[in-house]
Amino acid sequence: MKSKLFVIGIILFCSSRVNAQAAPDHMPRLVKKGKYTQLLVNDKPYLILGGELGNSSASSNVYMRPIWPRLKQMNLNTVIAPVYWELVEPGEGRFDFSLLDSLIKNARLANMKLVLLWFGAWKNSMSCYVPAWVKTNTERFPRILDKSGSQQEILTPFNKNNLEADKHAFVKLMHHIRHIDSIQNTVITIQVENEIGMLPDARDYDEGATTAFSQVVPEQLLIYLEKNRLVLSPEIKSAWEANGYKTSGNWEEIFGKSLYTDEIFMAWHYATFVNELATAGKAVYDLPMYVNAALNRPGLKPGQYPSAGPLPHIMDVWKAGTPSIDILAPDFYNPDFKHWCDLYTRYSDPLFIPEIRFEKGIDAKAFFAFGNYNCLAFSPFSIESTDHPEKEPIGKAYNILKQVSPLITKYQSTGAVNGFLLNKDSLPKEVKMGDYSLVVSHEYKLGWSPGAKNDEWPLTGCIIISVAPGEFYVAGTGIVITFASVIVNRKAGFISVDEGQFDNGKWIPGRRMNGDQDHQGRHVRIPCNEYSIQHVKLYTY
Ligand code: DGJ
Repeated sequence: MKSKLFVIGIILFCSSRVNAQAAPDHMPRLVKKGKYTQLLVNDKPYLILGGELGNSSASSNVYMRPIWPRLKQMNLNTVIAPVYWELVEPGEGRFDFSLLDSLIKNARLANMKLVLLWFGAWKNSMSCYVPAWVKTNTERFPRILDKSGSQQEILTPFNKNNLEADKHAFVKLMHHIRHIDSIQNTVITIQVENEIGMLPDARDYDEGATTAFSQVVPEQLLIYLEKNRLVLSPEIKSAWEANGYKTSGNWEEIFGKSLYTDEIFMAWHYATFVNELATAGKAVYDLPMYVNAALNRPGLKPGQYPSAGPLPHIMDVWKAGTPSIDILAPDFYNPDFKHWCDLYTRYSDPLFIPEIRFEKGIDAKAFFAFGNYNCLAFSPFSIESTDHPEKEPIGKAYNILKQVSPLITKYQSTGAVNGFLLNKDSLPKEVKMGDYSLVVSHEYKLGWSPGAKNDEWPLTGCIIISVAPGEFYVAGTGIVITFASVIVNRKAGFISVDEGQFDNGKWIPGRRMNGDQDHQGRHVRIPCNEYSIQHVKLYTY
C-alpha cells in the first residue's frame, strides 16, 4: 500500500490544478502569479466582467438578437452561455453545432468573449437537458434511485453508459470549438455540467451505487487526505479524525456512518465522472474548466439540499477527484457574500463567480470581489432580463472596472490592491498601504446626503490600487476615504485628487477635486449612485 500511495502521490503532485506548463501559443489559460491565479486571454491577464444568460435564451438565435446590444450597453466583456446536450446531439451520434456557431459569431461581432456551460448529464441536480434518446431509454441510461427504490430524473454517475454518452458529446463539443475557434479564442473557459447535486436522499441507491458504497475508499482520495492533512476543510478532517485517520477501509470505516459520509461518497463519484469528461475534453482542446455549486442553506441535511457538489465542506473530495478541473466555483443566491467568498478562497484557491443573483448591490460586490479576492470572473445571472440596461448599476461598475483591470492585474500579486464592501452596519475599515493608513467608510456616514436618514442604505464598495509610494487609484461608488501617515509625527496631505478615465490604459485626468469635492483636503469621496475613478497623490508634513 505504502509504495502505491507514493506513486499516486507523485501523480497527484504533478497534475497541478493550474497549468504550470507552457500552453500552446495564445490559448486562454490559468497561470499562478504569486499566490494568485490569473486567467490569460490572448496572453494578457483578463478579468471576466460577465453576465450569464437565462437558461433558455441561447436556445434561439431569434430570441438572442435584441439581447446582444443590451449586453454591450452594460459593458460586459464576456457572456456566459449554455450549450445544451439535447440540442447539440438530437439523435445519437448526429451533431448540430449551429446554435453554438451563431453564438460565437455574434460574440465576435459584439467584441465579447464566451464562457460555455456544458448542460450535459446534470443541470441543477436534474438530467433535464439530456437528449430524448437518453431520457427515454432508462434501461441503457439508468437513473438515480432514492431510498425507496424509486427512480429520479437524474442520471446515475455509477453507470458507464451514462458516462460514455455524456463524454462522447462533450468531446465532440471540444473538437468543434477547437475547429472554429483556436485562432480567435472567443471561447475562453468551459463549465462542465451545472450545479451537480444529489436529491432527494444523500446518496444514490442504484445497484452500482450500493456496490461502490461497500467498496474501499479509492487510494487517490486517501493519498490526498494524507498529503493535505494540515489544510483539510474542518468538516472532512473531523470525520476522518473521529474514525482514527484510517488509511484503508470502506466509506463508513473511513468517515463513519452518517449522511455526511453518504455525501462524501457521492461527491467522489460525481467528481470522478466530471474529471473523465474534463480530461477527455482537454486532451482535444485545453481550455480552463470549472465546476459550479449551488450553495447549501444552513440547517439542512445532505439530501435536503442539492448535496455532493463542489461545496466548501467537501471541496477536498472534489479537489482530490478532479485533477483536470481548474476551479470549483460558487453560485451566489445566498446572503452573506463575504462568508462564502472566504470559504472558497481559504486555501488560496481562485475565486470565479459564474452566477450571482441580479439584484441591488451587485455593483458594490463586483468591486469587492475583484479588489479583495482577486476574483477571475463576476457574472450576474439572467443578465439579459433588464429593460433598462443603460441604467443598470452593474453596467456602470463594469465601465469603471474595465478601465482599471490592467492596474488590478498588474499590482494584485504584490498585495497593492484592496477591495471594500460597505453597508449601514459596517464599521469604518482600516488598511495599511505602503506608508499610509487608509480608513474606508460608507459615504452616508458623513451624514451629508439626504439618503443617510433612510432605514436602508445602498451597498457600496470600491477598489484601491497603490501604484507608487503615496499614489493611489480609487474606483467605486458610495465611499469616503481618509488617509494618515504611519510615520511617527507626520501627517498625510493631498497633493492632488483628480477624477478621470483610462483610455486604452492611458490616464486622462478630468476634474481637479481639491476643494469641496475632497472636503478641502480631508478625504476622497465618491457619492452613492455615482461611479468614478480618482487619482490620489499624497505627501507627508
Ligand atoms: C442556478 C442555476 O445554475 C441556473 O442555471 C438557474 O437555474 C438559476 N439557479 C435560477 O435561479
